[in-house]
Formats: sequence, structure tokens, C-alpha cells
Amino acid sequence: MLTNIAVITYSQTGQLTRAAASLVRPLEQAGVKISWIFIEPKIPYPFPWPIRRFFGVFPDSVMGIAPEIKPIDQDKLKDADLVILANQVWFLSPSLPIQGFLASENGRLLSKKI
Ligand SMILES: Cc1cc2nc3c(=O)[nH]c(=O)nc-3n(C[C@H](O)[C@H](O)[C@H](O)COP(=O)(O)O)c2cc1C
Repeated sequence: MLTNIAVITYSQTGQLTRAAASLVRPLEQAGVKISWIFIEPKIPYPFPWPIRRFFGVFPDSVMGIAPEIKPIDQDKLKDADLVILANQVWFLSPSLPIQGFLASENGRLLSKKI
């Protein structure tokens, strides 16, 4: 039985977090524990975006040049029966913070389980 879900996400405006929260709300109401893991790039992306900075992340996004992220709380992953990776699109690619997570040790371990 599903008792513990980890939701991994990154959000600048809160929009993606709200969408992910709506997705898991019925499960939470049914008693499933939801553990949130918020990805934090070591160098934060600005919001609102200066126009040059916005288009400046285009090459890295498309070419998969992932940024380094801060370490995440591994215990939340270890205890999870299901992991949801809530991902937004940057220039038709996974956003750079999500790419950073997937390139990290935890992300690589998780990829092997999918
Ligand atoms: C640099 C950048 C590039 C984006 N590129 C796209 C895109 O190609 N297609 C798209 O539908 N949305 C794009 N978006 C919108 C995001 O996918 C996302 O919906 C929005 O930024 C809200 O996410 P948040 O929760 O991080 O604030 C882009 C946003 C940013 C910041």
C-alpha cells in the first residue's frame, strides 16, 4: 500500500508547486504522507528575469548543461514508496534546476529506479 510519497520540485513563482499540490491533495486527504523536496540551485535564478539573463539560459537548457544544486534531504527519498518529479519546461527542455537534480548523485540513483 502507498503510504509515503516524495515530491521533488523547483518553482520560481509557486505555480508548479501549486499544480503538484493539487495533484497529490486527494492522496494526502486519504492519509498518504507527502514529503516535499525543493531543489535549490547553488546559484539562484533571478525572478523577475532580466531579459538578457532569460535568453542567456537558452543554450544551457537545450544543451543539457546542468547547474550544481544544494544537497537534498535524502531521508525523505529513502522512506518514499513513490517519487514524483514535478518539472517545468525551459525552452522546450527540462528546467535547469531539474536538470541539475537529475545530474546529481541522488538524481542518478533515482533514474536507475524508473
Ligand atoms: C527560462 C524559461 C523558459 C521557459 N520556456 C518555456 C517553454 O519553452 N515552454 C513553456 O510552455 N513554458 C516555458 N516556460 C514557463 C515555465 O515552464 C513555467 O510554466 C513557468 O516558469 C512557471 O514555473 P514556476 O513554478 O517555476 O514559476 C519558461 C520559463 C522560463 C523561466
